Amino acid sequence: MKIWIIGSYGIVSTTAMAGGKALEKGIIDKTGLVSELPWFEGIEKFAPLEFEFGGHDVRPLKNAYDAALEHWELNRHYDRNILDGVREDLEKIVASKGTALNCGSGIEELGKIETLESENLTLSEIVDRIKKDMKSFADGETVVINVASTEPLPKKSEYHETLDKFEKMIENDEKEFATASMLYAYAALKLGLPYGNFTPSAGSSIPALKELAIENKVPHAGNDGKTGETLVKTTLAPMFLYRNMKIVGWMSYNILGDLDGKVLSHRDNKESKVVSKDKVLEKVLGYSPYSITEIQFFPSLVDNKTAFDFIHFQGFLGKKMKFYFIWDGIDAIVAAPLVLDIARFLLFAKKKGIYGVVKELGFFFKSPMESDIVNTHQQFEVLKEWYRELVNG
Ligand SMILES: NC(=O)c1ccc[n+]([C@@H]2O[C@H](COP(=O)([O-])OP(=O)(O)OC[C@H]3O[C@@H](n4cnc5c(N)ncnc54)[C@H](O)[C@@H]3O)[C@@H](O)[C@H]2O)c1
Repeated sequence: MKIWIIGSYGIVSTTAMAGGKALEKGIIDKTGLVSELPWFEGIEKFAPLEFEFGGHDVRPLKNAYDAALEHWELNRHYDRNILDGVREDLEKIVASKGTALNCGSGIEELGKIETLESENLTLSEIVDRIKKDMKSFADGETVVINVASTEPLPKKSEYHETLDKFEKMIENDEKEFATASMLYAYAALKLGLPYGNFTPSAGSSIPALKELAIENKVPHAGNDGKTGETLVKTTLAPMFLYRNMKIVGWMSYNILGDLDGKVLSHRDNKESKVVSKDKVLEKVLGYSPYSITEIQFFPSLVDNKTAFDFIHFQGFLGKKMKFYFIWDGIDAIVAAPLVLDIARFLLFAKKKGIYGVVKELGFFFKSPMESDIVNTHQQFEVLKEWYRELVNG
């Protein structure tokens, strides 16, 4: 299958590419891939573990190998032999120039960037270029996944409400109201390519693009990969619920380095991330305990994100107790296999005639579109059931 990655030179993206090619070559085993669990037996008939990658980025690097090497030298997040083993494959992947329209001040941290808008193109010309790039790569087995830097929340606008209005916005070149992630999502859905949003950016989640997905009968899913502290939080919080213990306070303090951390250290870019993290406790518990969620940039950690959590909970006889945990994850290692999983499940969905928001893929996301289920245990049951019914249907 083919995966077109928005943000193809990022650490999650290049780790997914290296991992995907290494899997194909049998250099690594399948640990970390949800789609390879026994409950999803048979998925390889719809979405084999053979990958071709392409994508958009705004950093003018030579190819995905150079990008992967840059990340590897900073993070050493996997065995160097793996990267050497897929070097030739990654050297062939050269990203097309993308757009960073309304991507916020955090984008300045990326260093030198080259964008379509700097060529003085209109919105309609930008969309045409994105579509042309995707089209020249895509076939009937292609999925688009957004793994680009997090954008700020978009400016609220009527243009996002219906497909007609969204297309008017493009026609009238109203750049102020469009963000890059919306334009990529629009292009993908317009071309009939399934779309997954691994970031908290708007992407396909605005009503206009949901309408387009239904009209064009394309499956899509998002938002924001659930990989670290939120994964632990939404797996652990149900325990308190099941034992009828009350959580009175939950503090989460996240520190991380690398580019993602740098971009998120900008207030506007961070806002969308904190919002997507805060909602989960209320959804799991049915009430909203006092909570603090902080994300701070900590350069020396590079891609090793650390989350400190403090939970204050109340049990029988009103007694308050405390629980602390520290999650020391390597962001790209927990995220990369999910990029491959989401792409495989979306292609499976497409082949089974599923379209619109695929709520059943909520298991993979922090803010699942059109679903209030954030309890990881429930989400996993929903995913298994959805797959079982479709694969046998
Ligand atoms: N565990 C995780 O790492 C995790 C979990 C959930 C969500 N995410 C999200 O995944 C995204 C990528 O994370 P990362 O650590 O790989 O970041 P990164 O900074 O290493 O990679 C981002 C890449 O996107 C490119 N880019 C930025 N804006 C772009 C645009 N408008 N169009 C095309 N390319 C663009 C950058 O040049 C860079 O190569 C972030 O939005 C992050 O919040 C990551």
